[in-house]
Amino acid sequence: MIEQPMMVKICDIIEESSTVKTFFFESNMQFEPGQFVMVWIPLLDEKPFTISYIQNNIFGISVLKRGLFTNALHAKKIGGTIGIRGPYGRGFSLQTNSNLCVIGGGIGMASLSAVIDRLNLTLKVHQGNVTVIQGTRTSAEIIYQKRFKNMNLCTEDGSVGFKGTTVKLFGELLKKQRFKQVFACGPEMMLYKVVELCREYCIECEVSLDRYIKCGFGICGQCDCSGHRVCIDGPVFNMEELSRMEDFGKTIMTKTGERVIY
Ligand SMILES: Cc1cc2nc3c(=O)[nH]c(=O)nc-3n(C[C@H](O)[C@H](O)[C@H](O)COP(=O)(O)OP(=O)(O)OC[C@H]3O[C@@H](n4cnc5c(N)ncnc54)[C@H](O)[C@@H]3O)c2cc1C
Ligand code: FES
Repeated sequence: MIEQPMMVKICDIIEESSTVKTFFFESNMQFEPGQFVMVWIPLLDEKPFTISYIQNNIFGISVLKRGLFTNALHAKKIGGTIGIRGPYGRGFSLQTNSNLCVIGGGIGMASLSAVIDRLNLTLKVHQGNVTVIQGTRTSAEIIYQKRFKNMNLCTEDGSVGFKGTTVKLFGELLKKQRFKQVFACGPEMMLYKVVELCREYCIECEVSLDRYIKCGFGICGQCDCSGHRVCIDGPVFNMEELSRMEDFGKTIMTKTGERVIY
């Protein structure tokens, strides 16, 4: 792990959708699916991004264009440089099991994409299977369509796939399929409802939480969720841990340290 940003050159860029780009870097850093890095743009800011592609000596981050920082990242070209430190956090605990379900809401899919790659690799050997649900507001926001075939897509406006949320689609699948383990990332209310369904159906579940991250390695306390520092204790938590986290699905700390209700 490196805690001083290391300047890395962008070696490739893929447009995943009209608002999401993946940036690739050559590096021999080692990552586990679900871990994140702090990305630094000198004189601007430093923000957390999950590793969405893990290849031999190349890794990628998929970035949704939102505000100042991500707009500046989207303006970068191949050959441009950014600072990276990490990797940070505890990723998903992947088991070579069968009947797995991966649920990604919006850009939460970025965190799960490296998980799906890893599962596909190990499940091929063990002849297991993984069901992938990706949910967005509309068809233009869907990512990784070429990368992952046979995803169960859902959109809020019904422009492609199932009309409705990931939770609704997961509920429908549960009526006809049995899952042993679920991995999810997305808006916290989605995660809360996925965990509730998993409890009801006695399915193991791990979710990746999103909290405002400043230091990324456990010293500032900004990412607190009921005494757990999301940057080092998470961002991935299991159901047992979540059951002890009262803030999960209820409150979040803002950039200025104020705790607000969801
Ligand atoms: C562990 C983790 C992994 C993440 N992985 C990805 C990813 O793979 N791809 C991706 O597009 N986004 C990811 N994010 C969110 C990403 O960090 C924010 O979208 C980004 O910082 C927005 O910056 P901005 O200046 O463009 O937008 P702003 O206008 O500053 O913020 C837009 C929204 O982004 C969130 N945000 C802003 N700053 C932070 C911060 N320091 N920490 C956490 N959330 C913040 C807030 O919800 C805010 O409302 C991740 C967040 C966390 C906590
Ligand atoms: S971001 Fe500083 S403790 Fe987690």
